[in-house]
Amino acid sequence: MPKREKAVQQSRRTPRERVRVLITGGRIQKRIQALAMEIRKDFPGESLHLVSVLKGGVFFLTDLARNIPGEVSFDFIAVSSYGQKTHSSGQVRLTRDLDSSIEGKTVVVVEDILDTGMTLQYLLRLFEQRKPKHLRVAVLLDKPERRIAAVHADYVGFSIPNEFVVGYGLDYAERYRNLPYVGVLLLGPGLKKKRAED
Ligand code: IMP
Ligand code: MG
Repeated sequence: MPKREKAVQQSRRTPRERVRVLITGGRIQKRIQALAMEIRKDFPGESLHLVSVLKGGVFFLTDLARNIPGEVSFDFIAVSSYGQKTHSSGQVRLTRDLDSSIEGKTVVVVEDILDTGMTLQYLLRLFEQRKPKHLRVAVLLDKPERRIAAVHADYVGFSIPNEFVVGYGLDYAERYRNLPYVGVLLLGPGLKKKRAED
């Protein structure tokens, strides 16, 4: 078989994307149970209002909510961000607001990942204006190396290296959100890691 044809056939057989498991579903569940207890211990007897960022934060929110004893309510917000490449300021825009007021409530913002911090910085500024009783942040994953905005998360599931991850709510072009684990996305025939800023 001519060399070129063979290469084409091989590249068809070789998957162009693969996911390498970074954090198993079991480890995620165990960590969330511990975070849920920590949050409840910090606010014993209080009604907790969890606010999650669509869509990535939803898996984390539902598992966290199931593990927090006592009274819990939740709401959702959606934002779209212009990446660093297309917009130098990394601007964030609100695309769906909360259903109800957070005034006087003990609010925990639940996010999938804290990366540059631009999204959370925007949300925290917005929520602070609405006068909650307490405002806390829970993130499943933290990539401290990529931080631009000075944002602090009160509850962190796992600190991870600067790699592009998918699964457990996190997507690559809307895919892989349904994976029960978190994995590093490998791209291309040589399956190189996707760079976080791509
Ligand atoms: P930040 O505003 O840069 O902190 O970005 C937060 C958002 O970027 C997250 O809510 C994710 O939607 C997305 N994001 C950041 N890092 C990753 C990643 O490694 N995989 C998938 N999405 C990511
Ligand atoms: Mg997100």
